[in-house]
Amino acid sequence: MVAQTPRRMTFRTRLVLVFVLLIALTAGLSYFLANLFVDRAFEDFAVRNVRVEDLIILRGIAQYYREHGSMDGLPEALEQTGRELPVLLLDPERRIVFASDPDLVGRRLGPSQLESGVTLRVEGEEIWTVLPGALSPWRGEVESRFLDSVNRGLIIAGAAVGLIGIVLGFVVWRQVTGPLRRLAAAAGRIAQGHLDERVLVTSRDELGTLAQSFNDMAESLEQSEAAKRQMIADISHELRTPITALRSGLEAMRDGLVEASQESFAGLHSKTLLTARLVEDLQQLALADAGRLSVRAARCDVRELLGMVEATVGVQLEDAGVRFELRVEEGVTDIDADRQRIEQVILNLLANAARYTPEGGSVWLSAEPIDGRAVRFSVCDTGPGLTTSDLHHAFDRFYRADKARAEGGGAGLGLAIAKALVEAHGGRIWAENRPQGGACFRFELPKTL
Ligand SMILES: Nc1ncnc2c1ncn2[C@@H]1O[C@H](COP(=O)(O)OP(=O)(O)OP(=O)(O)O)[C@@H](O)[C@H]1O
Ligand SMILES: [Mg+2]
Repeated sequence: MVAQTPRRMTFRTRLVLVFVLLIALTAGLSYFLANLFVDRAFEDFAVRNVRVEDLIILRGIAQYYREHGSMDGLPEALEQTGRELPVLLLDPERRIVFASDPDLVGRRLGPSQLESGVTLRVEGEEIWTVLPGALSPWRGEVESRFLDSVNRGLIIAGAAVGLIGIVLGFVVWRQVTGPLRRLAAAAGRIAQGHLDERVLVTSRDELGTLAQSFNDMAESLEQSEAAKRQMIADISHELRTPITALRSGLEAMRDGLVEASQESFAGLHSKTLLTARLVEDLQQLALADAGRLSVRAARCDVRELLGMVEATVGVQLEDAGVRFELRVEEGVTDIDADRQRIEQVILNLLANAARYTPEGGSVWLSAEPIDGRAVRFSVCDTGPGLTTSDLHHAFDRFYRADKARAEGGGAGLGLAIAKALVEAHGGRIWAENRPQGGACFRFELPKTL
């Protein structure tokens, strides 16, 4: 996993920045758009107004021309009205002869600038042109005041929205960071070894889900820590038994209390074998945990494998007064499997069955095809069967249902190893009771890995 360099900026700073940016953007955009639209609306309105006024003035000018026979003296006459006329008057040379702004008088305009004007013609002859007040500012005092108040309103609204935004942002920040800070504190306590630490799940949103996942993680951490502790205790207990026996046996021989005979050596040797087996079992489970249990799969003839098992175990069982039967059903095919590992699983199950089946009982080993895609193996017996606790925990490490019953038994690792081996083959294993009494251990292996 690649650790990323953490960012310096806190979540709060980033949230505030985003809010401020959003508010500034919204306020700026509304200010700009409102001004643009109001400006346009006013311009439209003013131009339309000017047009009406132009026509009135035009009529007046025509009247003047009719009365005087020429335009001479018109500008003076217009000035004398004392009104601020939003028009420009141009003579046939396109020279401004009248404008409310005296600076404009005398200026010549280009032909294109006359497009928006109205030219007065008398008997086909062009007389003066009246231009709407396009050259003079249209925005009057009233309009400016209106726009100012709109802008002021916008600024106040922006400030108010900004304030509300900051308050809301703070509330959201509290809601988000509160649970996060609690989670961080709990994680810190777990890191210090307080694995019973949990956080309160107060919502059903993403933060609630996060808190729930955190609690689940802490729970499984606590469980696996407990399992680890239990496992170490079990291992030391299981190792202590044969090692203590070895030590006391050797000490007895050293002190001359027991004669160093073939028999006493054989007894000690069996104890070392037991210790070695336990260590080997533990190693296999450790490999399975690390996902490194090697499975050397090859085509495996099930019939032949079970025949071999029958040849060895069958005789031992019959010797112990237990009837043994092998059944291989029609349609059982070869499978891809590690032959030695599968044999180990079957021998394990048979060893258990033999241990729990009293003299005069029976043990069956059978194989049957499952939909042509897998083979199911079963080891059943006429022993005492399994309790509910056995059914749930028989495959757990170091589980022994009834210590007294399993007196002669091992450490309680056999089924855990069998499970690991079967699962390494992509199969499954389970236990059930026979309706007629006795236990059945079954496992399925796929035909191809
Ligand atoms: N055929 C069976 N009938 C009744 N109980 C069984 C049978 N097989 C297993 N069990 C129960 O399941 C427990 C776990 O079995 P498992 O093979 O894992 O351990 P074990 O046989 O006690 O020790 P190990 O296999 O390590 O020598 C046994 O102790 C026993 O209580
Ligand atoms: Mg066993």
